[in-house]
Amino acid sequence: MQKTFSIIKPDAVKRNLIGHINQIIESSELKILASKKLYLTKKQAEIFYEVHKERPFFDSLVEYMTSGPVQVQVLEGNNAVANYRKIMGATNPAEAEEGTIRKQYAESIEANSVHGSDSEENAKIEISFFFSGSELV
Ligand code: CMP
Repeated sequence: MQKTFSIIKPDAVKRNLIGHINQIIESSELKILASKKLYLTKKQAEIFYEVHKERPFFDSLVEYMTSGPVQVQVLEGNNAVANYRKIMGATNPAEAEEGTIRKQYAESIEANSVHGSDSEENAKIEISFFFSGSELV
């Protein structure tokens, strides 16, 4: 069993898509261990996306991620990191496969509805950024 970290982003939360997206997640083998809605502070968004700090889209990304509430979640299953990335689809919805969350719901490469960890190592870092061990049940 492996854990991964997911964010349902402001564009999807605004459009009332938390349940729709979680239905797709739960229809796969993934279990939702923890889930909470919150506003990211500017500081949190900057730290979370620090790896993209030098990218031209960084400021816009931080502004977008703090533009409304997000749903942060911990998912568990076999190969959870890779499986969730498959279910999400490509970062750019124009390149996402049919049936993926981003193909169905993403508005743009920035407002792409969901985030998922890209490795088990980053999943651990991202999970501990938002959740304590006792919240993962
Ligand atoms: P995510 O998987 O959360 O990781 C980094 C985020 O940056 C990505 O989803 C998008 O929301 C955003 N992003 C990536 N590439 C671009 C881009 N070329 N232009 C704007 N935003 C981007």
